[in-house]
Amino acid sequence: MRFDILTLFPAMFTGPLTESILKRAQQAGLLDVRLHDIRAWASDKHRTADDAPYGGGAGMVMKAEPLAACIRAVLAEEPPAPVILMSPDGELLTQAIAQELARAPRLLLVCGHYEGLDERLRATLITRELSVGDYVLTGGELAAMVVVDAVARLVPGVIDAASTAEESHSDGLLEYPHYTRPAIWEGLPVPPVLVSGHHGEVAKWRRHERLRRTLARRPDLLARAYADGQLTRADLLFLAELGWER
Ligand SMILES: C[S@@+](CC[C@H](N)C(=O)[O-])C[C@H]1O[C@@H](n2cnc3c(N)ncnc32)[C@H](O)[C@@H]1O
Repeated sequence: MRFDILTLFPAMFTGPLTESILKRAQQAGLLDVRLHDIRAWASDKHRTADDAPYGGGAGMVMKAEPLAACIRAVLAEEPPAPVILMSPDGELLTQAIAQELARAPRLLLVCGHYEGLDERLRATLITRELSVGDYVLTGGELAAMVVVDAVARLVPGVIDAASTAEESHSDGLLEYPHYTRPAIWEGLPVPPVLVSGHHGEVAKWRRHERLRRTLARRPDLLARAYADGQLTRADLLFLAELGWER
């Protein structure tokens, strides 16, 4: 899968892209991340990419011409791709959206900065807008990294498929708790079922813990999982024992 990231600050991506799983995925040829410096598309000698807002007020606005030229040049390559702007007023990124994006062969991610983009770019070249949360970052670079990371780990081969099957937000429930050696740490033992060697009981315990945790932390998700028909009869009986009222 290919990501094209359009940014005024390409150096910000060093680190996230050069460590751990994203690094290995690129080395394995599963991921191709290309950084494009928007400033390189500015035509004046100062490489100006922003200007004062019409109507006055604080901050600077990213100019239309350099970013439009950059988007068009990158879009001219194959395969076709959606042009996704990182924006605090965009659609909230969810695991379901990450799963949808992971099926695309290529994504163009546009990082805003300062007060954001000239609105005419959003009305013409931008095809989708994504927010990583209801807060405001200084720029779209960290948001784009979040998108790359969340999407890339769902690309087949990047990590073990079993790791993403039952994790939080993958199927409406949160994940069960994990433990590793030693069996007793500072007087705290791991739940006995996990060292019982009984796979059926471990699976049942994990399902119960997913339900218990989702009820305690995100009852809104539980209600949605119920409405979507994702809870079994056994799940509902267990939830009733926990006092959940539909
Ligand atoms: C300081 S913000 C601009 C905020 C804008 N003036 C507003 O009030 O909506 C600069 C850039 O950071 C990025 N950004 C900030 N918060 C974000 C968020 N929650 N999700 C995605 N991108 C964000 C966007 O690319 C945005 O253009």
